[in-house]
Amino acid sequence: MQVTNNRESFSDKIKEYKSRGDKITLIPTMGNLHQGHQVLFSKAPKNTVKVATIYVNPLQFTDDDDYQNYPKSFQTDLEVCRKNDISLVYAPDGDISHEVGTEKNIDLPKFTRYLCGQKREGHFLGVYKIVKYFFNIVYPDFACFGKKDFQQLLLIKYLANTYFPKTRIIDVDTVRDANKIALSSRLTRLSKESLSSTCIIYETLHNMKSELLKGATIDNLKEESVEYLESNGIHVEYLDVRSLITLEEATDRLKSCGIFIACYLDDVRLIDNIEI
Ligand code: PAF
Repeated sequence: MQVTNNRESFSDKIKEYKSRGDKITLIPTMGNLHQGHQVLFSKAPKNTVKVATIYVNPLQFTDDDDYQNYPKSFQTDLEVCRKNDISLVYAPDGDISHEVGTEKNIDLPKFTRYLCGQKREGHFLGVYKIVKYFFNIVYPDFACFGKKDFQQLLLIKYLANTYFPKTRIIDVDTVRDANKIALSSRLTRLSKESLSSTCIIYETLHNMKSELLKGATIDNLKEESVEYLESNGIHVEYLDVRSLITLEEATDRLKSCGIFIACYLDDVRLIDNIEI
C-alpha cells in the first residue's frame, strides 16, 4: 500500500494505474475508520484498484468546535486500509481548502436545502467541492458511499451524473452496532450510558415504519415519536418522512419514501434513516 499527502504524486500514481488498464474504485473518507468504512471498502468491485482518501474537510463543517474535535486516528486508519487491500491512500496535509474551493456560483439541487441542509448551511457545498476535487484527480470507475448519509449520497449521484457520467456510484447499506445505531465516527464521543440509549433511535424509526404501514398519519406519529425521544434525553433536530428521490416531504403516499432523523445525544449530532 502506498500513502501520499502530495497531490502530484497521488495524481501520478492514478495515471500509472490507468495506463496499465486498471479500473479504479475510490472510497473517500474522513478517517477514524470503523466497521462501516470496512464495509464500504469491501463493496469495491473485484479486480479494481482500491484507492482511499483520508481528509477531514473543513469546508463541510458548520461548527469550528465540531471540526476541531473530529476524532482522528491516522496510524490505525492506515492499518485498517492495509487490512482491506487498499492500494493507495491520499491523505492531504493540513487544510487544502484554497485548492478545493475555487469554483464559483455553484447551484446545488433543491434537495440539498432540506434535512441536514437546513441547519448546516454550507455543509453540502463543502461536500460537493471536496468530492468533485477528488473525482477530478481520479476520474474513478466506481466510488462507494454509505446510505447512512443518504442526502450526501443523492448529491454524489447528482455530481457523478452531471460531471462524471462514467463513474458508477455504489450505495452501501448502513452498518449498525449491537444497539442498532448507525455506525459513525462521532459515536466515540458518547459516554457509555448514552451509547446504550442510542438503541431508542432505531427503535423509533422502526416503530414509525410499522405504524405508517398500518395507516397511521404522519403528523401525529411524528409528534408522538419526537416526544418519546425527547423524554429519553434525545434532542431531535428533525424527524421527517420524505421521498427517497426528491427528499420532498411525503404526503400520504409512502411509495419510495424513508424516515430521516438528526438528533443530539451528549451534544453529539447523529443522523440515521430507514426506507419504508
Ligand atoms: O462521508 C464522509 O465521510 C465525507 O462527507 C466525505 C464523503 C468523505 C467528504 O468529505
